Amino acid sequence: METRRRVFVTGAGGQLGGYLIEALVRNGDEPRGLGAHAGPGVDVVVDIADESAVERAVAEMRPRLVIHAAAYTDVDGCERDPDRAMLINADGARNVARAARASGAWLLAVSTDFVFPGTGGAPYDEEASPDPISVYGRSKLAGEEAVLGEDDGFAVARTAWVYGGAGKHFPRTVLTVLRDRGVMEVVDDEVGSPSFAGDLAEALVALSARQPAGTFHLTNEGSTSRHQFAVAVAEAAGLDPSLVRPTTTPEFLARYPLPAKRPQNSTLVNRRAAELGVTLRPWREATMEYVPRLAAELGMTT
Ligand SMILES: NC(=O)c1ccc[n+]([C@@H]2O[C@H](COP(=O)([O-])OP(=O)(O)OC[C@H]3O[C@@H](n4cnc5c(N)ncnc54)[C@H](OP(=O)(O)O)[C@@H]3O)[C@@H](O)[C@H]2O)c1
Repeated sequence: METRRRVFVTGAGGQLGGYLIEALVRNGDEPRGLGAHAGPGVDVVVDIADESAVERAVAEMRPRLVIHAAAYTDVDGCERDPDRAMLINADGARNVARAARASGAWLLAVSTDFVFPGTGGAPYDEEASPDPISVYGRSKLAGEEAVLGEDDGFAVARTAWVYGGAGKHFPRTVLTVLRDRGVMEVVDDEVGSPSFAGDLAEALVALSARQPAGTFHLTNEGSTSRHQFAVAVAEAAGLDPSLVRPTTTPEFLARYPLPAKRPQNSTLVNRRAAELGVTLRPWREATMEYVPRLAAELGMTT
């Protein structure tokens, strides 16, 4: 009989990490969480930039597999502090991969659509050539290379526009802005694949059961503009969608300058995981199911 898998999850206190811990428990696994700070789901506090501390933590835990979800995810913060971005997203990923290899565990590392330029070529499949346009994208690509360079049996799963849980995410921003200001403007020229963290966690756990090697794309199916995503969020919360007004990136940036460039269209296609039977439902279905719960949590039920 299959024994329970001990799974070490980095970024356990983050948006995806919380859903990963739940999905692993549902799958009958034994998750252990690593975080930068103490909190729910975090069993051990370690800075992934500290190579020997990571190695010690993984060796003590003796996991069968490691899911690496920790990252410096503040895209504009990365642009302002490239050294920190590389330290956490590239060196940190390498440290986790080395520690996994040293203790004989298989590794699945989470990466991003921001490795693609978004200026042409979308939708991107797993064979498309990355060419990031931001420090965050470059640091995550360096992390991917470090992971697969450490052991070509390891896997990288790229995802995009992740939302869900207690922290800051796009649907929460949309609902709080509409609640507090009544209307909002959202760019209609940025296109991507919104991904509910709960669905993504289930897919990562399903992929981990097969332990495949190489690069995978996991997002909720389909793509949309930021504006249409915000409209769907408003609709799902029972709000008037015309309160979400379209604008363009140049107009938006003229008013609210941001240091990091975002890919214009970074839609990902899942071919390789789908061949293994791992797919996610259409993005709108996930949004329509999740957002009413979020609206209730924010006291916005109609
Ligand atoms: N959010 C998105 O839209 C998105 C899109 C594509 C890909 N991804 C990728 O998906 C993964 C999960 O992202 P997420 O949305 O769950 O991000 P998140 O909520 O920001 O969680 C990231 C976690 O990493 C931890 N962390 C950061 N620096 C660390 C360090 N030096 N040592 C140890 N832990 C550290 C953070 O811990 P503290 O909270 O304690 O600081 C946090 O819990 C990341 O690899 C990210 O690059 C995210």
